[in-house]
Amino acid sequence: MNTQQVLLRDAMRRLNMTREVFADRIGTRRRALDTWLLPDDSSEFRAMPEMARRYVMEILERHAPEATEYTQSVHDDRIEAAPTGHHLLSVSQFNRDSLEHLFHVADVMQPIAHRRKVSRVLEGAVLANLFFEASTRTRISFGSAFCRLGGSVCDTTGFTFSSMAKGESLRDTAMVISGYADAIVVRHPEQGSVAEFASATNIPVINAGDGAGEHPSQALLDVYTIQREFSRLGKLVDGAHIALVGDLKYGRTVHSLIQLLALFRGMRFTLVAPPSLQMPRALVEAVAARGHEVVESDTLNSLAAADVVYATRIQKERSGGESIEGYGEEFRIDRALVERVCRAEVVLMHPLPRDGRPGANDLSTDLDRDPRLAIFRQTDNGIPVRMAIFAILMGVDAQVQRSMRDVRWQPPTMVRPDDALLNEQD
Ligand code: NCD
Repeated sequence: MNTQQVLLRDAMRRLNMTREVFADRIGTRRRALDTWLLPDDSSEFRAMPEMARRYVMEILERHAPEATEYTQSVHDDRIEAAPTGHHLLSVSQFNRDSLEHLFHVADVMQPIAHRRKVSRVLEGAVLANLFFEASTRTRISFGSAFCRLGGSVCDTTGFTFSSMAKGESLRDTAMVISGYADAIVVRHPEQGSVAEFASATNIPVINAGDGAGEHPSQALLDVYTIQREFSRLGKLVDGAHIALVGDLKYGRTVHSLIQLLALFRGMRFTLVAPPSLQMPRALVEAVAARGHEVVESDTLNSLAAADVVYATRIQKERSGGESIEGYGEEFRIDRALVERVCRAEVVLMHPLPRDGRPGANDLSTDLDRDPRLAIFRQTDNGIPVRMAIFAILMGVDAQVQRSMRDVRWQPPTMVRPDDALLNEQD
């Protein structure tokens, strides 16, 4: 993303305006604003006139003075690190400001994520990626994000090949790895284990999933995705109706996501699960106590008014042999269901992996060519968001913009055969 896009996105976020309202406010057409928001290598891209740029800064000055200072400092490369603390263990570490800051840094990372620019701000740093539980995208995207900032990655996967299989404690492992790495990403099947690990090290630790507990980086990329999808659709996250479907009891992604979305205003949540897989009471109560509307349901018919449908996989590995009653094909989200029940501009999301086997009651593959299916845009957003997490935790977030150089190799313009159909244009 170029500085023009970063400025405009920042301004809309800080003023909490949709594209429509913002275009109107700065006296331009929505169509012109759309062209200013495109990547600069797009044939439709237009540079914003200098006068418009000054006007945007002026409006920010008048209506959100702290935002101008912020936006100016962003462009002066003087931003303060967001107050997320030393480790990233839970989404409860975020407030609306630190969340917006992280999204801003993720926006700055987009040209690197899109392989148009390279950066070496983390040159010499080593990431230890410790995955004591199955993973594909989380492990690879954390590794890829670290490498794209110039760092190197050391991996370990599964208990079998780690010393934990010999009875080593989390504390001893943390003490040892602290001497080897400059950032540590940990996934572990037990809730609370990553916090226990983090208490034994001064190196930044990122929770990549602790049992049925939390998965904060996933929730960050999910909300970033919702914000980007909504920006295109002319909607704000404030006041949105989000439906979470599936295993809400053991799914850590939804535990983090609902808490992070609760930082926005006037949210409506529809939680669709069979009685045996409902969202933990404490989470429902905490979200309702913040003034949001929470409706629990056991039928997909209640997806009718949702702006986002976020489906999840049944976490069979966590139900400890409890039989999953009442999770039949009435929970399958397929094309027929979406056409029959959902809003025309619904955003369909899933943290993945989805169970794609025939007869699985998950997000169906018959939606794969539907542009409302945001799942691969969502996984792509994992890169800029995880780069932003590293940059903030390691104190280089203000240096990234200046550190960028043009890429010398030839990246593909479209990384997937269906990109022209499925990718948003900005
Ligand atoms: C999820 C996880 O591991 O919590 N996947 C992910 O990280 N994107 C969801 C799941 O396994 O169902």
